[in-house]
Amino acid sequence: MQNRNDGTIVASIGASRSGKSVPIKRAVESLPRVLAFDPKGEYSSQLGFERITSIEALIKRCQELGSKPAQLALFASDKKSFDAMCGVAYIWNMYAPIAAVCEELARVTSVSKAEGNWGRLTNQGLAYGITIFATVQRGQEVDKTLLNNASFIHVCRHSTDDDCEYIAKKLGVDLSEIPRKKLEFLQWTSDLGIVSRGTIDFPVSKKTKKWPEGCPRFRSKGGNRRVLTIGSDGRFKQIKYT
Ligand SMILES: Nc1ncnc2c1ncn2[C@@H]1O[C@H](COP(=O)(O)OP(=O)(O)OP(=O)(O)O)[C@@H](O)[C@H]1O
Ligand SMILES: [Mg+2]
Repeated sequence: MQNRNDGTIVASIGASRSGKSVPIKRAVESLPRVLAFDPKGEYSSQLGFERITSIEALIKRCQELGSKPAQLALFASDKKSFDAMCGVAYIWNMYAPIAAVCEELARVTSVSKAEGNWGRLTNQGLAYGITIFATVQRGQEVDKTLLNNASFIHVCRHSTDDDCEYIAKKLGVDLSEIPRKKLEFLQWTSDLGIVSRGTIDFPVSKKTKKWPEGCPRFRSKGGNRRVLTIGSDGRFKQIKYT
């Protein structure tokens, strides 16, 4: 049973440019306390997060901030920096809950089980109300701790038959459910199976500073088509997850 302080893990899985990061950016862009592992620099360049380029600077900044709001992006891509960032995220979250964004997990974690500070964050951080958003291109490349502990899994386009088969089997859904087109998605929970299917588009009428080509719009597919709104925990407000 969930209690109020339980955190959330969201795993977003799909091929390159399939739409994994867009919903995460939507969820975190207006959150007060966020720390992103940002190998491409997109959270700082697009969303205006404070760019931090060393672990020393990150530690100093989080110590200064304590429980205050800040959106921080660590511009790094190596395993050592990722592990250290997870350690900082764990401690910064103790001051007041944060969202931690972990992009491109396959480059920085092992497939067996979550280790080191990443393991501590995914196993113990939840008890302190952290929200973890993680992206990976293929289900085979992510540790079992993450998939087993995920509050829900956001599945985007998979490009090969092998990858589709792996994730369909892992989630216990029909192979035909796995998105094959860019910007299509489904969401899954271990209790309910598939909870939503949909597509993203970017209406040009909705340009903002952070979304100069158009702000993303999430629309459900199927009989009951509607525009979905993402909450700060990454869940669509209109969908029942439990
Ligand atoms: N503001 C926007 N306007 C129009 N299209 C956009 C916008 N933002 C993203 N896209 C489109 O959405 C696609 C998916 O973007 P996203 O960054 O979510 O992909 P991704 O799966 O995270 O890719 P990667 O593996 O490279 O990180 C992009 O290829 C781009 O075409
Ligand atoms: Mg991405």
